Amino acid sequence: MIDWFPASDGAGSSSVGDDPTAGESALMVNRLVSAVARRHPALAAHSRRVAVVADALAKRAGWSSTDRARLREAALLQDVGMMRVSREITNRRGRLSLVDWGAVSAHVTAGLTMALDVLDEEQLKWMGEHHERPDGSGYPKGLRDGEISAGGAILGLADAWSAMTATRAWRGALTAAEAMGQCRERAGSQFDYTAVSLLEELWLNEGNTLPGVSGQSAALAR
Ligand SMILES: [Fe+2]
Repeated sequence: MIDWFPASDGAGSSSVGDDPTAGESALMVNRLVSAVARRHPALAAHSRRVAVVADALAKRAGWSSTDRARLREAALLQDVGMMRVSREITNRRGRLSLVDWGAVSAHVTAGLTMALDVLDEEQLKWMGEHHERPDGSGYPKGLRDGEISAGGAILGLADAWSAMTATRAWRGALTAAEAMGQCRERAGSQFDYTAVSLLEELWLNEGNTLPGVSGQSAALAR
């Protein structure tokens, strides 16, 4: 079984502070993430990118190492519910039908059920809010700005960053500059303002630590 955040990883170990149950929790997270990786490697790779970006944003925001470790766990599992969505739908190109979209959007609640015994209550809240949007257009609850937790906002932006800067079967990856432009443009509507500000700071100062940002593009951004 792979340790998704070994101690030598830049993001640090996935053990959570001095909590004696943390080792057990990290082991359960690793088991679940490994199960995802065996069945859906691309999804596992995306989740790991999300965890790296979310961790960097949380560090920039001054989160404690304990809470960053908890956020990484939530990030690694936030899309685990996609395992319940048929490959036929997830591999489909172009616009999804309303029925298919319903199946895809249900991954949030399906994932919460799958992670119920693995994550704590606050981690589940962060995970459950990764598709909520400040303008209320997100799901599953249609929460608005001020109702979305900081962890949920960070996960939502990290998820979008990972998706935008990755190559998909039906499109190429956006450059870091293009992705940053999209994030700026949608700050306050699709993405939390504070989270976008953190990403901007990170991109300008430590951009080469972000997936999808090469040293060259980070330098060009300054
Ligand atoms: Fe998701």
